[in-house]
Amino acid sequence: MNRTGIMMSPIASKEMQDVDPSMMAPPGDESALAAMRAEYIASADMVGSMPPPASVSGAVQTAVAMLKGNHPALLLDKLGERLAFERTGTRLYDALITKCEVMLDGQISMTMADLERIRAEEARHFLLVSDAIESLGGDPTTQTPCADLAGVESMGLVQVLNDPRTTISQSLHAILTAELSDKAGWETLVALAEDQGLDDLAAEFTVALEKEREHLGLVTTWFDEALGMSYGEVEIPADAAGSAAPQGGGATPAA
Ligand SMILES: [Fe+2]
Repeated sequence: MNRTGIMMSPIASKEMQDVDPSMMAPPGDESALAAMRAEYIASADMVGSMPPPASVSGAVQTAVAMLKGNHPALLLDKLGERLAFERTGTRLYDALITKCEVMLDGQISMTMADLERIRAEEARHFLLVSDAIESLGGDPTTQTPCADLAGVESMGLVQVLNDPRTTISQSLHAILTAELSDKAGWETLVALAEDQGLDDLAAEFTVALEKEREHLGLVTTWFDEALGMSYGEVEIPADAAGSAAPQGGGATPAA
């Protein structure tokens, strides 16, 4: 039985609140805590660092890019972040597939084939990012600072998906969080690649971004359906490349 709320015990909670003010300690604030944190922040190192270029050609590419006024280390750091997140994304869908093999009951429009397809796209995006890092002279096995942070950020999502007690609706909420982050991450990569004049990469990243927008639209719809909201049929193109993808929560509620 859930006994976490104060109203579970109205008499004791009233007694607790009816305290003689003269018996209470003066109210404090968080300034001492903030001051201590400020000290730590001022003297802290960074979360990791970017390694030097992995090869001679990488060193040359980095030097040329820097001469052009670009920031190759920033792009490689964000690529490392996307690599880490797409790896986790693939595992999140693996976990959802396992859960749905047991629990999916036809109450929502999501199918196992949908999940397998998105899982394959996340894995393809992982390989796309890995190739991009190599093409820029980097090492895809490097744990970059932002890759480290992406791993920490997504820890809770992995826990939710792999918890045997969570429902499909609860799992989809975690997946929705991941897809929102995914979309934002690819938008950043497209912008960075365009900014650094890497037109071929920017074009490839834009295709990946379109896929992520489609994932977000689908997951939003499935999540709403799992909550019992009817948003109508969602078109899932057989070959989604370049197709009109549904955007987050796009349709009009039926009722
Ligand atoms: Fe995705």
